[in-house]
Amino acid sequence: MPTRYLVTSGLPYSNGRLHVGHIAGAYLPADTYVRYLRAAGRDVRFICGSDDNGVAIEISARQQNKTPQEVSTHFNQRQKADFAGLRIDFDVYGGTHQPGYWDIHRALSQDFFKRIYERGFFTKRRTRQLFDPQINRFLPDRYVEGTCYHPDCRKPGAHGDQCSSCGRLIDALLLIEPKSVITGGPTEVRETTHWYLRLNDFEQPLRDWLNTKQGIWRPSVLNFALGQIKQGLPERSMTRDIEWGIPVPLDDPDAAGKVLFVWFDAPIGYVSFTAALCEQRGERREDYQKWWCDPDTSIVHFIGEDNTVFHTLIWPAMLMAEQQHKLPAHVVANNYLNFKIGGGEEEKISKSRTPQESPVWIEEYLKRYDPDALRYYLTAIAPEAARTFFDPAHFIQRNNSELCDVFGNFVNRPLTFVARYFDNKVPDASAATDVDRALVARGAAALEKVGACIEGFRFKAGLEELMSFASACNEYFQIRAPWSSRKTNMADCAASIGTSVHAVHHLAILAAPFMPGAAERIVAMLGLDAPALRWQPPAPPATGRALGQAQILFTKLEGEEL
Ligand code: 2FM
Ligand code: ZN
Repeated sequence: MPTRYLVTSGLPYSNGRLHVGHIAGAYLPADTYVRYLRAAGRDVRFICGSDDNGVAIEISARQQNKTPQEVSTHFNQRQKADFAGLRIDFDVYGGTHQPGYWDIHRALSQDFFKRIYERGFFTKRRTRQLFDPQINRFLPDRYVEGTCYHPDCRKPGAHGDQCSSCGRLIDALLLIEPKSVITGGPTEVRETTHWYLRLNDFEQPLRDWLNTKQGIWRPSVLNFALGQIKQGLPERSMTRDIEWGIPVPLDDPDAAGKVLFVWFDAPIGYVSFTAALCEQRGERREDYQKWWCDPDTSIVHFIGEDNTVFHTLIWPAMLMAEQQHKLPAHVVANNYLNFKIGGGEEEKISKSRTPQESPVWIEEYLKRYDPDALRYYLTAIAPEAARTFFDPAHFIQRNNSELCDVFGNFVNRPLTFVARYFDNKVPDASAATDVDRALVARGAAALEKVGACIEGFRFKAGLEELMSFASACNEYFQIRAPWSSRKTNMADCAASIGTSVHAVHHLAILAAPFMPGAAERIVAMLGLDAPALRWQPPAPPATGRALGQAQILFTKLEGEEL
């Protein structure tokens, strides 16, 4: 078992709001994983922040007539609030161009670049690049859009770096009918200078490394990465002709006015935010190396599917080239989450087609609803092996029929019973039967199974196991029927209620990584506090101990609300 875990979620671009697709992809599973690790007593740091540099932010700022700094700081803050509202609790939420992070991030990124440069893995190349004559500037890859040239794809809407349909890397000069994203006009080809990372030098080391992950990583991630290597990894330019970003740290007149490619500095954000966190906690900046250079640390990257190329090939190649930081132990990629409403077509969640006040937007959702309900649904439909879709009607149905009628129902029944008939004190369960002991054993087994699912990044399966235990608890309650034994055999009634209270405690622990708010509410109803959520079979509740006040755990939703 690793000594410590460094868990990251892909850095969102700070030029827009967060929607349920983002959350289902790289954030909620990571938070669930981290909460579980912490409950199991492991040493963890959970790192995220915004991806502020590069063309995406520059384009947004241009469109809004603002500076890139204004746009990125504004969305960095809004995204941070969304994450907090959903109880996605990073240890640090930095930003690659935000005050408090920029200095350290720029320094570390430039060091990375220089190390790779000194080790000779860049090729300086005079190159031809697409240029927009209307505004007199070179167009970095994201500023160019055209039709994908991969013969089996040929879809429009491919960018100059990656095709949004087939996900493969793109050479902008090969795009069919390229257009400038800024002006929409045609492009010209002109000459400029850039520094290229020779990815092809790493084909064999990357293949060898990826092969050590067979049977451990999700097959879709491995097959995609190995498939790319098979096709050959083209060299990739790691510098850009734009203003907003980290200056290229070379004493070379050709480097003047150029910045690092945003995908070069973004993953280094994971490292620089870790260093900033060390400082925030009163440690030295260099202490970040414990998390990034020590072989006993397990580095785990959670990402959305469109980031797979960068996290399984380019970032590892950068790490192999600079030779100071460790490769990730896991890259956990989820597929896209689409959106579907009222039996309509499944579509990509996009700003243009989704109503502004829709609960698809985290900000809108949080104004009215329980974060745990969304966490539950997004894990239940997690796109772990294939794309899935968010359907508001389905969300309501699962909230009502599973969270309320199964989970919440079981928590409520014994606790209100204790309040009504046992003076709100844990009854004496010494007359427990085999059926009672079997339920407790099942709870302990569920802890093992759910833990194994989470450690294996099978969050959906873990949640199903939790709900299957909740169903078993309801069945148990029906069979033991304390409302009837209360009249005939009080010792038997007390044993079944005491056992149920014990089972409720199991449920709180099991639920905590998935639905932290619900777990805390249950713990309060049990008259306990946070340490009661450690990932271990809980001790039976002490006879006579006072419980807290029973409340309804989850709220039913009406169809029209959404
Ligand atoms: O796709 C994206 O939203 C990127 N901003 C993800 C960056 S992940 C990392 F490398 F920082
Ligand atoms: Zn394509």
